[in-house]
Amino acid sequence: MQITSNNVLDVIKKRRSIRTYKKETIPQQILKEIVDCGRLAPTARNIQPWKFVIITQDKTIKKIAEATDHGKFLAEAPACILVFCQDTKYYLEDGCAATQNILIAAQSFGIGSCWIAGDKKPYAEKIRQIINAPEGLKLVSIIALGYPAENPSPQKKPIEEVLIWEHW
Ligand SMILES: Cc1cc2nc3c(=O)[nH]c(=O)nc-3n(C[C@H](O)[C@H](O)[C@H](O)COP(=O)(O)O)c2cc1C
Repeated sequence: MQITSNNVLDVIKKRRSIRTYKKETIPQQILKEIVDCGRLAPTARNIQPWKFVIITQDKTIKKIAEATDHGKFLAEAPACILVFCQDTKYYLEDGCAATQNILIAAQSFGIGSCWIAGDKKPYAEKIRQIINAPEGLKLVSIIALGYPAENPSPQKKPIEEVLIWEHW
């Protein structure tokens, strides 16, 4: 399997949201490995309320993209992962932890990703129906995946602005 970087700090620091992709498919084995990293995320009381749906069919990806508001770029991605959770007390925290693991794992394979909002969005229910997910499951996130065709550098607040030692 192609791993471009194993250095965790490097992978975390270099990850940026990628919204344009090369026309290159992602091997199934890599997609499975990426989801496996989501599966191993921390989860309150170890409930693991999640289900991960890998989608590579262009027709379905386009339907999901169309349903979103700020995720239309997904239509050109070769794959996406939907993170669903049962409606537990900490489903959102759990689902977000899994989502972040997935973004970092993708980056370690040189695969670009973008987190597209799911929970709280009115289109979440529509997306659940598109893939026929069981009723009551919460769509936490949609993750667009693809080999990067851009290299964005959004402005980040400097460490001095966000770090407080001990107390204000
Ligand atoms: C909860 C959440 C929802 C997001 N939803 C969207 C979205 O709907 N569309 C989008 O293009 N980016 C979305 N993003 C990505 C953010 O825009 C991006 O992380 C932010 O601009 C910082 O850029 P970076 O990821 O490159 O560091 C979302 C990120 C988070 C954490």
